[in-house]
Amino acid sequence: MSKTDNVKGYDNSNINWYPGHMAKAKKMMQENIKLIDVVIEILDARIPFSSKNPDIDEMAKGKSRILLLNKADMADPKKTEMWKNYYESKGFFVNAVNSKNGAGVKATTEIIKKACAEKIERDRKKGILNRPLRAMIAGIPNSGKSTFINSFAGKAVAKTGNKPGVTTGKQWIRLSKDVELLDTPGILWPKFEDRSTGLHIAFIGSINDDILFPEDMAYELIGILKKEYPGVLDARYCITREKGEEEVKDTIEDSGDPAEIMEKIGRIRGCLKKGAEVDLLKTSKLLIDDFRSLKLGKITLEEP
Ligand code: G4P
Repeated sequence: MSKTDNVKGYDNSNINWYPGHMAKAKKMMQENIKLIDVVIEILDARIPFSSKNPDIDEMAKGKSRILLLNKADMADPKKTEMWKNYYESKGFFVNAVNSKNGAGVKATTEIIKKACAEKIERDRKKGILNRPLRAMIAGIPNSGKSTFINSFAGKAVAKTGNKPGVTTGKQWIRLSKDVELLDTPGILWPKFEDRSTGLHIAFIGSINDDILFPEDMAYELIGILKKEYPGVLDARYCITREKGEEEVKDTIEDSGDPAEIMEKIGRIRGCLKKGAEVDLLKTSKLLIDDFRSLKLGKITLEEP
């Protein structure tokens, strides 16, 4: 499927940042990439595959590459570790971070230096010492680029003042004597290579919720939970009922069919239409909200 095809469940005509915004963002990145030494791509740790844009591999040829698994606080730690190992085996420098509370963020300076070791050595041989390394942040919408930059740059951001339009030249945030950061993050269009990629991107809120088919997302989530996180659906949605003297807890996960599971969740949670029919849309939104607000626990939707 090409990027312009409709992913089932999406009406691309409503995605108003395509293709104009995409073209602009890509141009901005292409123009700047020659100025920088290292590209730091921010991934969402809950979807480390779908949030990585393969376009950047082409654009950033010959540059050092760092992948940050952001929102690690919301992802399954075991899977975050698996993804870290996986991407490291592909030659990336990788770290898990929580940009919101700053965990892992400061370590980025050292990672940048490691990733740029060859360049530092080349400079040294030419007699160039202490030239700051120039970094660019890139990532799909909502991956946490702004939050990361604010956390990483801290006071440095405040110092440059975030005054759009004041200077027409490039704005660099001097982070330390070693690192400068381009102050405009590269926004990458997510790649809808298949249906599940599109759905996963939707889960993390990179696509406006108004244009989605929540039912498709809910079925996808149920499938993943049943396979990778058995017990989670039962723990969250099953209620204990009295049967004679005993208390019994029903299971909904026994159902092989996601539609049946949806039906049961809807009924248990009272997501009903007139005539006691289950309201699938309401049930789907409940599931999606529960995923996003961590009520289902720390779930990673993808495995290496
Ligand atoms: P972007 O520039 O890439 O588009 O993303 P941005 O920084 O605006 O972050 C998108 C949302 O993700 C924000 O939430 C932000 O707070 C949240 N976020 C970013 N990094 C992390 C992280 O490591 N952990 C967690 N838990 N959340 C993170 P929001 O609800 O849109 O805004 P706000 O209410 O938090 O301000």
